[in-house]
Amino acid sequence: MANSFYITTPIYYINDVPHLGHGYTEVAADFIARFKRLQGFDVTFLTGTDEHGQKIAQAAEAKGVKPKEWADEIVPRWHEAWKALDISYDDFIRTTEARHEKPVQTFVQELYDRGEIYLGSYEGLYCVGCEAFKSPDELIDGKCPLHPTREIEHVKEENYFFRLSKYAERLIDLWESDERSVMPEVRRNEVLGKVRQGLDDLSMSRISFEWGIPIPWDSKHVIYVWIDALLNYITAAGYASDEARFNRIWPVDVHLIGKDILWFHSVIWPAMLMALDVPVPKTVYAHGFLLVGGAKMSKSSLTGISPQDLTETFGSDGYRYYFLREVSFGQDGTFSWESMVARYNSDLANDYGNLASRVLNMAGRYLGGAVPRTPADDELDEADRRLIDAYDQAFTGMEAALDGLSPTEALKAAWTFVRKANSYVEEVAPWALAKDESQHRRLEVVLYNLAESLRLIALLTFPATPRASQELWRRLGIDGELDRAAFATDGVWGGLPAGSKTTKGDALFPRLDDDQK
Ligand code: MSP
Repeated sequence: MANSFYITTPIYYINDVPHLGHGYTEVAADFIARFKRLQGFDVTFLTGTDEHGQKIAQAAEAKGVKPKEWADEIVPRWHEAWKALDISYDDFIRTTEARHEKPVQTFVQELYDRGEIYLGSYEGLYCVGCEAFKSPDELIDGKCPLHPTREIEHVKEENYFFRLSKYAERLIDLWESDERSVMPEVRRNEVLGKVRQGLDDLSMSRISFEWGIPIPWDSKHVIYVWIDALLNYITAAGYASDEARFNRIWPVDVHLIGKDILWFHSVIWPAMLMALDVPVPKTVYAHGFLLVGGAKMSKSSLTGISPQDLTETFGSDGYRYYFLREVSFGQDGTFSWESMVARYNSDLANDYGNLASRVLNMAGRYLGGAVPRTPADDELDEADRRLIDAYDQAFTGMEAALDGLSPTEALKAAWTFVRKANSYVEEVAPWALAKDESQHRRLEVVLYNLAESLRLIALLTFPATPRASQELWRRLGIDGELDRAAFATDGVWGGLPAGSKTTKGDALFPRLDDDQK
């Protein structure tokens, strides 16, 4: 059986519809998932929605509906957004589903039975925006820096506590060892630095509202929404419901998250798992924030733009490519319309789109759209070999970039080949060969090489721009579906069958006016 690769995104709060920040995580996870599928992994890509807790209860109340009704109404909007972005998730979990709620109770009961939970009382500050307890030094002018428009609540209530503090040493050992990782390195250091200062036990239930999963032995309490939410990663994998599946895909290979929720994923989550002797995640990767005008994009800061606002102009491919390529993965990045138009025009419309239309046009004009016989080794000259070499290097570079979980670096590597193919066109000048009957076979060889380059560019860029890739394969006369392709077989130079029939078609990426609004 193929090797399993399990990747997750956070499950998003459904107090509102998705914005570009959420779209960012989805697209990055989708890129990695598609790449791993091409590498032959048996991928499980999980996303979903986080539907319990005070934040959702308040959002529903503001609309005058019950939280579950609210959830049922808004979740389709999340599905729509991910469909518009061509997110190829394998599973979408909602925390209000029975397949989640039941195993969550099993897990928490087991913690209790093992003495990992005790009753206490909590007094302190709570940010409903983060659904998190806060210490005064985390606030700026009494407000949560991530949710400046929300009031901080003062909470005093009876709570159950999870014995988080006793896991400090084990967490330090875990993240210091090489066997598991928090990435990028700066995030690992951040976590280690904080854990070394010591940990408090964690309040893991709430009693002042009802919208949550009841504590099984004391139903006055609901399980703290973060405990409930984190468990989605194992409930969706079959924990306490499908043991065979769970053993096959757990531990997760990558939890991809934003840096805002690193603490929950790299401290609370592994400690919960350790408490029940469940293996901990292999990698937690915390990417940076998408900023608009210098501020973290969120609905409450009024910079929320929906993904569909942008796909109308740029298409799903343009959207995906821009965020993956423009924002150095792992760091914060700024979104602007102008940079999006510029990136689209230079990389997609010019480098990629023009190459495709030039090659397909020449194949049509000079060869009647018939892909010629595959060149034999002794028909290749130095220029041809440099082109093939550039492909090999781009492919190796992409694989290395993926080992470091960097879509940005992967795309840079892919574009070295796109640019090389463009310069090869200039170098071999098929239009000149076409004028000389004695050069006919040479013309066939260079056009084969170019059509083959297009086939491979489509394959390499499929994780970023799946629609264009599939369309390009179609125009090259290839039957296959790219989502069933594999690098091992399709990634080998020379795979384009002779006799395939090419077609021209409209621009893959129509150029946008610089001032297009
Ligand atoms: N429900 C929790 C997560 C539970 S996971 C067990 C939550 N939800 S959220 O809706 O607030 O989404 C947080 C995630 O959305 C971030 O970690 C990040 O992946 C993504 N982003 C939200 N805003 C973002 C930006 N402005 N920039 C980049 N990513 C952003 O927290």
